[in-house]
Amino acid sequence: MTAIMESAEALTLLNELTRQAGREDPYPRYRRLRELSPLVRAEDGALVVTRHADCAAVTRDPRLGHMPPHMLEFISPNWENHVALRQLFTSILTINPPDHTRLRRLVSSSFTARRVQALQPRIAEMVDELLDRMTGDVDFVEAFAFPLPVNVIGELLGIPEPDRPQFQGLVRDWTLILESVRAEDLKIADPAAAAIRDYLAGLTAERRKKPADDLISALVAAEEDGEKLTEDELLTMAALLFAAGFETTTNLLTNSVVALLRHPDQLALLRAAPGLRASAVEELLRYDTPVQLLARVAWDDIDLAGVPVAGGERIVAYLGAGNRDPERFVEPDRLDLTRSDNAPLSFGGGIHYCLGAPLARLEAQIALPALVNRFPKLDFAGEPGRRDSLAIRGYTTLPVSVS
Ligand code: HEM
Repeated sequence: MTAIMESAEALTLLNELTRQAGREDPYPRYRRLRELSPLVRAEDGALVVTRHADCAAVTRDPRLGHMPPHMLEFISPNWENHVALRQLFTSILTINPPDHTRLRRLVSSSFTARRVQALQPRIAEMVDELLDRMTGDVDFVEAFAFPLPVNVIGELLGIPEPDRPQFQGLVRDWTLILESVRAEDLKIADPAAAAIRDYLAGLTAERRKKPADDLISALVAAEEDGEKLTEDELLTMAALLFAAGFETTTNLLTNSVVALLRHPDQLALLRAAPGLRASAVEELLRYDTPVQLLARVAWDDIDLAGVPVAGGERIVAYLGAGNRDPERFVEPDRLDLTRSDNAPLSFGGGIHYCLGAPLARLEAQIALPALVNRFPKLDFAGEPGRRDSLAIRGYTTLPVSVS
């Protein structure tokens, strides 16, 4: 039986992933980690999996879950006193059944496939408006990749348009804690999370008085077995939906544009065959996913990757590595928009499978073909600026020239 690997090489590779060069191109390091062992121990004690099958198992195995409140002390001793941590660790993203099941059911009854599909014409309109405004050299993040998703999720939730831009900085500050929980990050993340919460409290109070045709009003009204969301749960849910609704999709759009510009043959293919939009987006999600990793804890003694793992062990699944596993994908390092039988891990799996996956897919499937068709000339106009994080992968600036 294979054992947990504790090797100096694995530690070096994992450390490199937290530095500039590793962030720029984590994929060769992922390859080596996959080759070294299915399960390696990181410096902070967590167990790391990098193969596709093992990452998928981590998301689906019901014996793995999120840390119960008493274990969160490990992350930050006073986590409940930090609004940034409370707003994350009490959200559906990180809670366990039965609360997760109840909240997921409640939000699913409001955030329906019909509500998402109904947005299609509106998304196409927003895409056209943004493309109309792009000329010459522009920062693709400012001009397109941020405004599109923030306006889509803003409209869905019912956040008035003039209020939306402030959330770019606020959400970036709040999500600093996804990387690691350091005192200096909490000083930035706490006021940002509090500002998001205060804003949403004001908006929710308005919708209680005067409901509108939006998701916040639907959440206010949502009832399941006569049980409503508490005010606290409602604000946490709205904050998570809003943040997750644009932060990740912005990065999907930037990562996709960078990948296409670096593969002009694939860009030309998408231009020539817009019918490829669905397989193209799956492949772009696989090739350079915005969410690179997710974390769990073992409730029980389990076997993972054929290795016995004791209950209480923390486990990190590198989705970005699993997405390049040659055991699962033919020529995994090749961007191939026609790839069939694609199964990116990018939206996770199991009970926490991304609630916004249909919306993110829809936005990218409309936006990317429209972008490449609008501009016969689309190129880099400078070096892209990488976002300083590992868990969320993307760019803060992406200078492009269009004509
Ligand atoms: C390309 C864009 C996106 C990516 C790559 C992405 C990725 C993910 C991943 C990997 C998870 C699972 C995390 C885990 O299991 O630990 C997740 C969960 C979630 N996502 Fe997304 N997401 C995207 C867009 C969105 C959008 C647009 C929304 C909202 C409108 C959204 C809302 C959520 C929510 C609420 C959860 C938690 C679900 C639960 O725990 O039950 N996401 N997402």
